[in-house]
Amino acid sequence: MTDQPAVVTTTRPEILIQEAVKSFSGRVVVDVDELTLGAAPIEGLIGPNGAGKTTLMRMIMHSTSLDRGTITLRPNGRVGDDEVVLSQIPSHRMAGYGVVKSNQVIMDFEKLTIWDSLLLASADSKYEQPHRIFDEQKVFDRANAKITEYLDLFGFADPSGFAGSAGEKKLLDIVRCLLLEPKFLLLDEPTAGLPDDITEKVMAVIKRMADEGTSVVIVEHNLDVIWNLCDEVHFMAEGHVIMRGDPEEIRAHKTVVEKYLGEGHV
Ligand SMILES: Nc1ncnc2c1ncn2[C@@H]1O[C@H](COP(=O)(O)OP(=O)(O)OP(=O)(O)O)[C@@H](O)[C@H]1O
Ligand SMILES: [Mg+2]
Repeated sequence: MTDQPAVVTTTRPEILIQEAVKSFSGRVVVDVDELTLGAAPIEGLIGPNGAGKTTLMRMIMHSTSLDRGTITLRPNGRVGDDEVVLSQIPSHRMAGYGVVKSNQVIMDFEKLTIWDSLLLASADSKYEQPHRIFDEQKVFDRANAKITEYLDLFGFADPSGFAGSAGEKKLLDIVRCLLLEPKFLLLDEPTAGLPDDITEKVMAVIKRMADEGTSVVIVEHNLDVIWNLCDEVHFMAEGHVIMRGDPEEIRAHKTVVEKYLGEGHV
C-alpha cells in the first residue's frame, strides 16, 4: 500500500458583487446586477471615462457607501463559513481580510518619508498608536529586507526623503499595497504617469503575486498593460459591467470598439 499524497484544492479568493447600486445626487453611476471577480488570476476592468470603474472599486472597499446591494469576499473561492460580507465591514478593516486597493488619485502621507511610509504599511494594524512602530526594532527587523528589495527594484532616489513627483507617489502607493501581502489586490490605474521601464517592473511584480495565489483586478487606460497582463477582461460602460471575455475577444468586440476603443485601434 502506498501513501497517497493529500489532495489540496486551493482556489483563489473571489469577490461577489450582487445588485450593487450607487448614485450621486440622484444619478445612478454604478448598477451591477451580478459580477464575480477573482476567478482568473489577473482580471482587467476597462471602460470609458466616467463608466463607474473607480466607484465600483471604492464600493468593494466600502470607502464609499452602497445605496443597496451586497459585496462578499470568498477567501477560498467557494461558498462557505469563511465568507465575509465586505459591504458590512468598515473600510479600515479590509486589509485585515487581505483586500487591498491602490488609488487612482494619490492620497499620500505628506509628512512621512518614503521609508517611514513603507514601514507603516508593514506594521500590524494592532498598533493603536501607529507612530510607535518607528521605535520598535522588531517591526524594522521584520520589514527591512522586503522594503529594501522594493526600494532597489524600483530605484527610489532617496528613501529618507519625501516622494516628490506624482509618479513616485503613485509607485509608493503600489509598494505599500504589495507590502500588505494582499490576498485580493485591486489596482486603480497603477501605471498612469509611470515611465515605461517602471511600468514593466510593476507588471512583473503583479504577475509574480498572481502566480503565488493573489487575485488581482486592474483598472487601466494603458491598454498594453491590459492586453499583455490580464487573463480575463471585464468591460464597463454607463455604470454596468456588460461583458467579460479573454483579452482578444474583448478588444475585437464591436460594442467595446464602438463605446471605447474607437475604429482603427490595434
Ligand atoms: N464623489 C462623487 N460625487 C459626485 N459624482 C461622482 C463622485 N465620484 C464619481 N462621480 C461620478 O460618477 C461617475 C463615475 O465616475 P468614476 O470615477 O467611477 O468613473 P471611472 O470609470 O473611474 O472614470 P475614469 O476612467 O475617468 O477614471 C462620473 O460621472 C463621476 O463624475
Ligand atoms: Mg477612475
